[in-house]
Amino acid sequence: MSDALLACLNTIPDPETGKGLDDADRLDGAVIDKGIATIVLKVTQGSDPAKLKARIESEAAKLDGVERVRVITTLQRESSSPPPAAPQPAKAAESPAAKRAAGLIIAVAAGKGGVGKSTVAANLAAAMIKAGMSVGVLDADIYGPSIPRLFGLREVQGLRKNEDGIEPAGAHGAKIVSMGFLTKPDQPVVWRGPMVQGAIQQFLNDTAWGNPDVLIIDMPPGTGDAQLAIAQTVSLDGAVIACTPQDLALDDARKAMAMFEKTHTPILGIVENMSVFLCPHCGEPSEIFGHGGAREEAAAIGVPFLGEIPLTMELRERSDTGKPVAFDKGPVADAFANTASAVLESAGEARKPAPKITFSA
Ligand SMILES: Nc1ncnc2c1ncn2[C@@H]1O[C@H](COP(=O)(O)OP(=O)(O)O)[C@@H](O)[C@H]1O
Ligand SMILES: [Mg+2]
Repeated sequence: MSDALLACLNTIPDPETGKGLDDADRLDGAVIDKGIATIVLKVTQGSDPAKLKARIESEAAKLDGVERVRVITTLQRESSSPPPAAPQPAKAAESPAAKRAAGLIIAVAAGKGGVGKSTVAANLAAAMIKAGMSVGVLDADIYGPSIPRLFGLREVQGLRKNEDGIEPAGAHGAKIVSMGFLTKPDQPVVWRGPMVQGAIQQFLNDTAWGNPDVLIIDMPPGTGDAQLAIAQTVSLDGAVIACTPQDLALDDARKAMAMFEKTHTPILGIVENMSVFLCPHCGEPSEIFGHGGAREEAAAIGVPFLGEIPLTMELRERSDTGKPVAFDKGPVADAFANTASAVLESAGEARKPAPKITFSA
């Protein structure tokens, strides 16, 4: 924590209590590093922190040595207060037409492709199903929808509607809707932002999801118009950022986080994928892409570190078999179970007596 920054932030009143932001315990972090002031602001579910963020940005920018200000929001856990009857998402409340598709809506995002975003999304879903939760998966990756393959649904073509709405496909206990159901693998499709926004809105609102505990959205990689359109359309409870330990991937992860900051979506935390290589023969770990970069980054900016997923042959091979490895037993399944627990905890799942994820057994 930086004292000058904290003192400055404490001159800004918390809209709820009227106390300074530090006194009101609204800050999870406040540091100035290399000219960048990073402030981690705790927000409650359903609140709109836009004005407060703008005020923080303008006040912090006045400090000596501050060239840039970034404000990151994290969801405040409300363990001491009684749980609300139902989640009150900020963006859904703005639009009366929008109905809530699931108890929790979580995006899995990455600044670029190939870091294992879909692998993480599919296996988080699997770990949650294994723990007894109901889970929907919305594959919004217009550039490379891979959820159908990961859940063994390659054959599905088109979507059917019944009286309740679009019928999701079912696999291993998950309800799944994918952009991949609408496109042929060998036909490149050019989606523009508004088209994506329309399709996602329809998938979200018109699908007979059956109100699952969690809806996981596999986001398109990158931070362009299409991604922004989704982040703006969907009342996300938070975003999980997937990255690899390398610096370059971390740079991309930072861009992805900045995009969610723009849309006031809480960052639930960072997952380090391809963390250590587990030898298929002896189980010995080696750090092929380095190790711990994401943990350090998470600590530096004050967002939760959600877990490390090892790089294994098994994970790559299993991505073609159509059943996520997190349904099994072993170190990789354990890593996903731990990460899923951390995601739910970060999303304030404690509000709802979260099913505690247990593994092995
Ligand atoms: N931890 C891992 N260990 C081994 N292979 C992995 C791991 N994570 C992802 N992969 C493989 O890397 C490739 C890219 O992963 P994918 O989840 O499709 O990435 P993205 O959705 O970010 O483009 C896939 O072939 C996948 O099987
Ligand atoms: Mg993918």
